[in-house]
Parts: sequence; C-alpha cells; structure tokens
Amino acid sequence: SKTIGVLTSGGDAPGMNACIRAIVLSAARFGYQVIGFEHGYNGLLNNEKIRLSNLHVQHIIQLGGTILKSARCEAFLKPDGVKNAVANLNSNEIDALIVIGGDGSLRGLQKLSEIWSGQVIGIPGTIDNDLNGSDNTIGYQTAIDTALDSIDKIRDTADAFERIFLVEVMGRHAGFIALASAVASGAEQALFPETIEDPHAELESIVQHVECLRKIHGKTSIIMVITEHLWPGGVSDLAETLTHQIGIECRPCILGHIQRGGAPVAYDRILATKLGAYAVECIADQETAIMVGEHNNQPSRIKLVDAFGIQKSLDPYLVKIQQDLFDVVHSMQ
Ligand code: F6P
Repeated sequence: SKTIGVLTSGGDAPGMNACIRAIVLSAARFGYQVIGFEHGYNGLLNNEKIRLSNLHVQHIIQLGGTILKSARCEAFLKPDGVKNAVANLNSNEIDALIVIGGDGSLRGLQKLSEIWSGQVIGIPGTIDNDLNGSDNTIGYQTAIDTALDSIDKIRDTADAFERIFLVEVMGRHAGFIALASAVASGAEQALFPETIEDPHAELESIVQHVECLRKIHGKTSIIMVITEHLWPGGVSDLAETLTHQIGIECRPCILGHIQRGGAPVAYDRILATKLGAYAVECIADQETAIMVGEHNNQPSRIKLVDAFGIQKSLDPYLVKIQQDLFDVVHSMQ
C-alpha cells in the first residue's frame, strides 16, 4: 500500500475540489491512503495536514475554490525550503505527492523531484491554460464562461452609451482567456501578448481600427478584451489615451479575481475527475516527475519539465478568425 500526499497551490481554479475528490476516491480503490497538505506548499513546510477519507470529499465536486486552501509560497523555493519539505514528506511516510496547480507550482514540484526519492505527479490546475501537455487546464473553461458573462453585461451598457470598453482579463502572461472570451462575446478586438511585442507601437493601429469599426462596420459600441500585464500602465491608462485620441468616452473594466471563483462548469468537473483518477493510476504505474493532462480527449503524460519549459501556443485558427471577422480591408472590398 502507498500513502499519497496532495496539495493545491498557486491561484485556485474551479475544479480543484473535483480533482481532490477524484484522487481520494481512486486512491481508495487501490487501497492507498491520502493526506492533504493545506495552504499549498506551506502545508508541507509547516506540517499542516489532514487525512482525507471519502467522507471529506463528498458533495464537493460542484464547489469552486479548494477545500485544502491555496497559497503562493516563497519559502518553498529557497534551497532550505525544498529540503524541509522533503524531511516532512519522509517523516509522514509519503510515497507520492500530487500537486494541483499552475506554472509556478509545477516548477516547484520539479525542484522537489530533483532531491526527493518519492514519486511526484503534477496536475494542471489554473485558469490561465498556460501549461504545455494538456489541451485544457482545470478551471480554464469556467473562467472563460465567467468572463463572458461579465462581457455580455458590459455590452449592454456599452451599447446604451455608445462607448468603447477595454476589458482586462486574467491569464498571467498568456492570452488564452482573452482570445476565447473575445471570440465568444463577439468583442471587436482582442489584445494578447502572443501577437504583440511592443504595445506602444500598436497604439496607432488600435486607433485606426476603432475608426474603421465605426465608419465601415457601423459600430456604435466597441469592446476590446485585453490580457492583464499587457499594457504598460494598465487598461485605465489605455482608456484615457484612447478617449483623448478618438474623442469618444472609453471606459476600463478590470474583471480580476471573479474569474477564479464560481462553480466549475461541467467540462472542468469532468476534466478534473479524469486527471485526478489518472494521476493515481500513474502512481500505481510507478511514474514520477510527470504532469498528467488530456490530449484529444484522452489522458496523457508529459515530463514535468516540458509542461512549463515549452510554451503552449494559442489556437492559430482562432487567432486568425478573431482578426478576420473585423478585418477592415476585406470588409471594404
Ligand atoms: O495564475 C492564476 C492567476 O489568477 C493569474 O491569472 C493572475 O495573474 C494571478 O493568478 C493573480 O494572482 P494573485 O491572486 O496572487 O493576485
């Protein structure tokens, strides 16, 4: 029999609870015990833990957040931090550790795997969808729907006032949420880091685009979806600049942490359940230093280092049609 440790780390994502549930239920089937560490890697350092039984995870599949709590843990990334974590894992007689988290959390897990003899498995849990090796990360689809719900509401007021709205969405340094929510909401423009090297150099073309949208497409309200951290000075700064240059009221709207909350959509619950169960199967298979994921609807495994070491691309066709639908040159012909 084995003892599995599990923790959730970094930005919480809807579906993390569904994943914990799947791990606990699958582990029981193999006769494995599960210990949950609380508050991300802090729980490993401070020995904050809870023995998880089937009862702890009943009726949590529909809950956002994470019953194990989450945190970012600077101390863990220091050499002593990783060593202390190893000491704690060994004293708790943990055979395998599963970490559900994003980029930073999996980088930490890789560090741990370099000095710990136990098995380590990463599960992609982040709204940002920025991990290579899984078509979707747990929480991403819910975050798109949450952003979409807000953008639809912004459209009502934008239409009524004939304004331009700049909507900032999350994504860390990746444009997945921006692209998907822009396409789904019919936003007239999407700005994300993958296609923009120097944001200031884009200003002129943004202004031109707005003018063409108004004159050629007959748009009276315009929505631009923008990835956080993209515009130096933020979307408020860009809104002010555009108001000044175009002479129409532009308003910024930062969606922020609402994108991390809420009940996971069906897709995220199913993905989380699959990946939780698959992670336990991988432990039974003696796997280590991998991230489990899903590719073309099938469970998949990828080396942990490749999950964060190789940049995941946006869907190029989606990028193209997002731009083409409001392509002014073509519309003029
Ligand atoms: O990684 C998830 C995420 O929500 C990012 O989209 C965002 O940049 C970051 O976390 C925000 O972190 P915090 O909650 O620490 O402000």
